[in-house]
Amino acid sequence: MKYSDSTSGLDTPKNILKVNHAGEFGAVNIYKSQLFVARLFLKDMVPQIEEFLSDEKRHLDIFWKEIQRRNGIKCKSYWLCGLGGYVMGFISALLGRRGIMACTWAVESVVVNHLDNQIAYLSQKQDKEALETVEAILEDEKNHRDVGFEEGGASNVLYFPVRFAISTFTEGVIRFGMR
Ligand SMILES: [Fe+2]
Ligand SMILES: [Fe+2]
Repeated sequence: MKYSDSTSGLDTPKNILKVNHAGEFGAVNIYKSQLFVARLFLKDMVPQIEEFLSDEKRHLDIFWKEIQRRNGIKCKSYWLCGLGGYVMGFISALLGRRGIMACTWAVESVVVNHLDNQIAYLSQKQDKEALETVEAILEDEKNHRDVGFEEGGASNVLYFPVRFAISTFTEGVIRFGMR
């Protein structure tokens, strides 16, 4: 999705921050529910998921601080992201190791793609703070995506429906939030 100035007078940089904040809430919930399942059935994956979770909590905080500085409120997609994230994380984790990595790869690929487009848009705006806030999380999200890829999340054809459903939901919720 390409980002451009709103035609209906919305503050697009602020909207980007709100959508990303909601997305981070979704990500926190994905990794929380995966952690819950992994603690029961996939104990060796716990440290990796804990690391992802702590990154997402930090990201959540980064965006919320910048939104508050602009007197902003939570995105209309906030609770939908949270619920969707929890459900996607939970179901993917029940599918096992590959399910977890398919979810990680699918979500983080969509996220990185949006971040790149947001950065391209914000680079042309006189809004250094918004740009720096988005840039601050890019490396972490690329790392999450790459771990998902290296651990086989992108490859197994059996998990195509999982990846497709998760990509579609993630893309949809971002578009909804930006409207
Ligand atoms: Fe994140
Ligand atoms: Fe992430």
